[in-house]
Amino acid sequence: MGELEPRPGPLVDTFGRTARDLRISITDRCNFRCTYCMPEEGMQFVPRDEILTFEEIARLAELFVELGIESIRLTGGEPTVRRDLHRLISMLSALRTPDGRQVEISLTTNGSTLARQAELLRHAGLTRVNVSLDSLRADRFLAITRRDALEDVLSGIDAAVSAGLDPVKVNAVAVRGQNEDEILDFAAYGRSKGVQIRFIEYMPLDASGTWSLDQVVAADEIVRTIDAVYPLEPVVHGSEPASRWRYADGGGEIGVIASVTKPFCGDCDRVRLTAEGKFLTCLFAIEELDLRHPLRSGASDAHLAELLKDAVYGKWSGHRIGRVDFVRPTRSMSQIGG
Ligand code: GTP
Ligand code: 5AD
Ligand code: SF4
Repeated sequence: MGELEPRPGPLVDTFGRTARDLRISITDRCNFRCTYCMPEEGMQFVPRDEILTFEEIARLAELFVELGIESIRLTGGEPTVRRDLHRLISMLSALRTPDGRQVEISLTTNGSTLARQAELLRHAGLTRVNVSLDSLRADRFLAITRRDALEDVLSGIDAAVSAGLDPVKVNAVAVRGQNEDEILDFAAYGRSKGVQIRFIEYMPLDASGTWSLDQVVAADEIVRTIDAVYPLEPVVHGSEPASRWRYADGGGEIGVIASVTKPFCGDCDRVRLTAEGKFLTCLFAIEELDLRHPLRSGASDAHLAELLKDAVYGKWSGHRIGRVDFVRPTRSMSQIGG
């Protein structure tokens, strides 16, 4: 363990990418059981004493910000099942980049508790929110999530908009034979509510391991379907996974996340921390760096910074979904945080 002061500076890899965006999973638990994400019963959760405390998360987050991270997204499982989430958000919203800018704090949630919490989270310093919603039909919503909670989620989205969280984005994972007939309904819903609908290509991170390429609805097909009814124009985009399109009539925007048909790994600026304190440089990473043990055995910030820089330096060029040499990570989505 070095005695050096931490060297502030960017987390760069050998492909010239710099990590700017940190996704922190704060729990692997969830109050839903989406079929593509978790089994109905028998999910093995991380024991509570292995989950990072808010203080541990905040210490690591501060270090990440010193190392160049500018935005932090809290994910799960379902992050709002963690008690006193607003307390963590207040702690993180106090962070400033080395040049004094506020760190953006966002949340990806299933929306089920937002009707109760949106205002509180906004006041704690949450900037914006992404809500997962895969069907607008109550029976289908129940079949997908195994919970009869469509109305809670819809009122949660309304509460997020009213609380001033901006933008509010709605994530729909498109699965062939499950919800691709709702693409236009989602578009109409997004236009009427002023929220940005994002269609996500289904990725091989389901808990059951039954994903297949023919279940993927390609982003191009989704854009064509919407454009035929509500003409779209492309929006120039940066390093975020979503490609964005605006309605030509001014009715807002949609996004598509084409992880499978058009991987965007070359522009990736993300790194991830799991609920039990593992550091991953990719959603599909096979290698994990344990931070919890060094953290709990008194490692200095300088030592942790060196571990992080090394791990990022070794980041691979990207995933190989659909190729013969693709290796599926053993973690499923709720254990990584999306
Ligand atoms: P924004 O910052 O609002 O653009 O959020 P986001 O789209 O990055 O995050 P969100 O949590 O809403 O995730 C939407 C989808 O993008 C999920 O299916 C994520 O798993 C996926 N996603 C997020 N980051 C990555 C990534 O680095 N690689 C891939 N392939 N997918 C990602
Ligand atoms: N493929 C693509 N997206 C997924 N999500 C969960 N599982 C998958 C998958 N296998 C989405 C959720 C949520 C986000 C974090 O990831 O719907 O919006
Ligand atoms: Fe829970 Fe999200 Fe997984 Fe659904 S996708 S089971 S809401 S963690």
